[in-house]
Amino acid sequence: MAKREQWGTRAGFVLAAVGSAIGLGNIWRFPYMAAENGGGAFFIPYLFALLTAGIPILVLEFGIGHKFRGSAPLTLAKLNRRWEWLGWWQVLVCFFIAVYYVVIIAWAISYVGYSLSQAWGDDPGGFFFGQFLGLTEGPFDLGGLRTNILLPLLIAWGVTFLALFGGVKGGIEKANKILMPVLFIMTILMAVRGVTLPGAAEGLNYLFQPDFSKILDYKIWTAAYGQIFFTLSIAFGIMIAYSSYLPKKSDIVNNAFMTAFINCGFSLLAGIAVFGVVGHMALIQGKPVAEVAGSGGVGMAFISFPAAISTLGSLAPLFGILFFLSLTFAGLSSLISINEAAIAAFMDKFNLARKPAVIIYTAVATTCSLLFATGAGLYILDIVDHFINSFGIVFGGLIEVILIGWLFNLKSIQDHVNPISELKVGSWWQFALKIITPVVLGYMAVMNLKGDLTTPYGDYPQDALLWFGWVVMVVVIVGGFLLSALKWKDEQSLIKEVE
Ligand code: ALA
Repeated sequence: MAKREQWGTRAGFVLAAVGSAIGLGNIWRFPYMAAENGGGAFFIPYLFALLTAGIPILVLEFGIGHKFRGSAPLTLAKLNRRWEWLGWWQVLVCFFIAVYYVVIIAWAISYVGYSLSQAWGDDPGGFFFGQFLGLTEGPFDLGGLRTNILLPLLIAWGVTFLALFGGVKGGIEKANKILMPVLFIMTILMAVRGVTLPGAAEGLNYLFQPDFSKILDYKIWTAAYGQIFFTLSIAFGIMIAYSSYLPKKSDIVNNAFMTAFINCGFSLLAGIAVFGVVGHMALIQGKPVAEVAGSGGVGMAFISFPAAISTLGSLAPLFGILFFLSLTFAGLSSLISINEAAIAAFMDKFNLARKPAVIIYTAVATTCSLLFATGAGLYILDIVDHFINSFGIVFGGLIEVILIGWLFNLKSIQDHVNPISELKVGSWWQFALKIITPVVLGYMAVMNLKGDLTTPYGDYPQDALLWFGWVVMVVVIVGGFLLSALKWKDEQSLIKEVE
């Protein structure tokens, strides 16, 4: 077996981990989630989720990836031969996320160009759904491939391919060393200009004003936990794969804290930039912020924000370019990591060299992503995203903490990370992983399942939810078992620990 690849520098690893964490989720999900779930009061459950689940799981995933030197399936197989399927579960979750996540990046690339002339005119919603997406009547009415989306889609896949093909140090690390600093600069520029716009204060009030009456609502707690998992890329198998490329002497705990805090700091910055501009729009239109803000997600990035950009006068093209390039860069660095989690797994299991693995994988993933570039793409994307987040990540994370927390000697991982780390983990870490996280995730898992079984998601037809939701989950679970049943090409790789 070839020697495992390694990061060039510690900063390179941290940037890549931060690059994975900071993604679309930070820019369009976080600001709205905070605003809608109690504003300033949301930070209490958010911080709680960060300290009880986010950072502890990050330390755990960095720790096992580093100790067992493998992608999620290999690492879990080394923990216990019967747990490999959970690794494949996470890999398949990554695959399904990758094939729609890339399409959103493609939209962002298109919108960089549209920003120059504000091509959305005075009807950003009509432009987005109609002219741009060519949205059809329903999820089964594909309406053909959208060539206007195909081109940016190929660009997004092209950049991702080059980073993955170049390897850990020569590709992924290099890409992050370019994408991340540029992203930080662009976001700082937007935040600084955003808060100095007339009306910005109202927008920021809307974002931060604490509504403590919401704090007892369980929904804001589950929203905070969901956001922490998605934003830190935990329970995706990504952080396990990334830390498997760390050199033997690597600080684990400190790296985890840094990754988490840089990521959450960035979310705040993005929130300030977004709501500064939204506040300005409210002022110009003479309406309350709540009315002009719209809601998060796709609608925020491609409808509300373009509308807000149009109110900026001569600054509009610049702001538009900065915003959509930020989305593109944040998205690409996450997309690279989402795919690497899968590629590393196939390389480990089938003893493949990187280059053929990347070529085959990218060809398959690119083909599958075309489905989301059709006129029905947004519907299918919305359903897959809902099921993968509500079930794939929540159940995957829950099983991970139960297996490793309860059926494995957690102390042995603590004993592995502490001697090499400046900060140490101890009883709070164990308590968080063994008790708090399983209880909260278990509750979320049950509530999500109950929710979807009693009230079908969205206004979609039942068979669309069946095929793009439940069947996708069955593929994740059954596929996980089938892949784990295949023989390892090199059985030796299951024995080795840190070299
Ligand atoms: N962590 C990535 C995001 O927030 C997946 O988008």
